[in-house]
Amino acid sequence: MSEVRLERVSRVYDRLPAVDDVSFTVGTGEFLTLLGPSGCGKTTTLRMVAGFLLPSAGDIYIKGQNVTRVPPNRRNTAMVFQSYALFPHLTVAENVGFGLKMRRIRGAEAAQRTQEALRLVKLEDLADRLPRQLSGGQQQRVALARAVVIRPEVLLMDEPLGALDLKLRQELQVQIRNVQRALGITTIYVTHDQGEALSLSDRVAVMRDGRIQQLDAPDRLYGRPVSAFVANFVGRTNLLPVEIVEIAPSRDRVRVRAVDGPDQFFSVSVEAKSCDRRPQERCLLGFRPENASMSGEPTNRLRARVHDVRYFGAVRSVSLTSALGGVLDVDLPSGAPVPSHGEEVTIAWHPNACFLLPMEDESLR
Ligand SMILES: Nc1ncnc2c1ncn2[C@@H]1O[C@H](COP(=O)(O)OP(=O)(O)OP(=O)(O)O)[C@@H](O)[C@H]1O
Ligand SMILES: [Mg+2]
Repeated sequence: MSEVRLERVSRVYDRLPAVDDVSFTVGTGEFLTLLGPSGCGKTTTLRMVAGFLLPSAGDIYIKGQNVTRVPPNRRNTAMVFQSYALFPHLTVAENVGFGLKMRRIRGAEAAQRTQEALRLVKLEDLADRLPRQLSGGQQQRVALARAVVIRPEVLLMDEPLGALDLKLRQELQVQIRNVQRALGITTIYVTHDQGEALSLSDRVAVMRDGRIQQLDAPDRLYGRPVSAFVANFVGRTNLLPVEIVEIAPSRDRVRVRAVDGPDQFFSVSVEAKSCDRRPQERCLLGFRPENASMSGEPTNRLRARVHDVRYFGAVRSVSLTSALGGVLDVDLPSGAPVPSHGEEVTIAWHPNACFLLPMEDESLR
């Protein structure tokens, strides 16, 4: 059974749609992330699920019940914000216990549940401190404990780690995921950090201009993006304008020709059921920098000239230019031979490690 369901939900501000006809479901215990650039409608969507904001159209269901018009305090959802929003004059334990007090849960049960929530976020030892005596990461853990202590059916988190530095963010990502798993709590998480989205989520919805462009498991999102926007938002992508030459009878392999520059042919593996393209149609061939190499057997090959080499520890990122125009990136493992500036090399990638994207997206990169 789905825990949360949005059905054709829109929200209009001053006649501009902030959220535009969005539908999705979140399964029980699932961790779903809304990912997208600033202003794409993530917070607006989350606030409608929480009940802080009324949709202009559409319906929201929690556990099968239509809650579109149910006030927030009667939805059994809990929200964690980017600004921790702790009560400055209450101790850590009092902050966590506050929601219980509001629900008239007192005495031994309240104390025990507060203790439990603090243990879950590893803050038992700081129960008597005030928020100003805590680091940012600790404050956010208090906010998380405060949200889960009421045992909500749905946990909503809006960029909860946005104010923290990278190392702390990574630590807390692990904690959030552990707490979410331990409680099996249905979660909608908002971020504009693609790494965070891919590593935390069961599924990710990539939003743009108030709409969901793609909702998929992280590995599908990364390996089979449906648009150049998604491909670029969840990682770096090389894009080459191409034209379809031939579609294999089995419909699982497509041969394409580069549009710009001299004749160059490439092969792309596609999913037979999704291959609705026609010969001569123009589209974009995409492949990830780490899926290309300068050696080996893969069938797709392209001569290119080394333009820049940058060292990142785990990989060496090589920028190249080819007769097809534009710049291509290839990530080499740190042990691989290093090409020199200006050298002409052959880059190669496998038909399974590339994808075709609609052309119209190119201008939107
Ligand atoms: N109260 C409001 N009045 C008018 N427009 C609003 C209001 N709240 C949000 N918007 C607009 O709705 C759109 C979506 O905003 P929203 O806050 O949902 O984006 P977001 O994806 O959460 O962005 P960010 O990553 O910056 O937090 C934006 O264009 C924003 O300007
Ligand atoms: Mg926001």
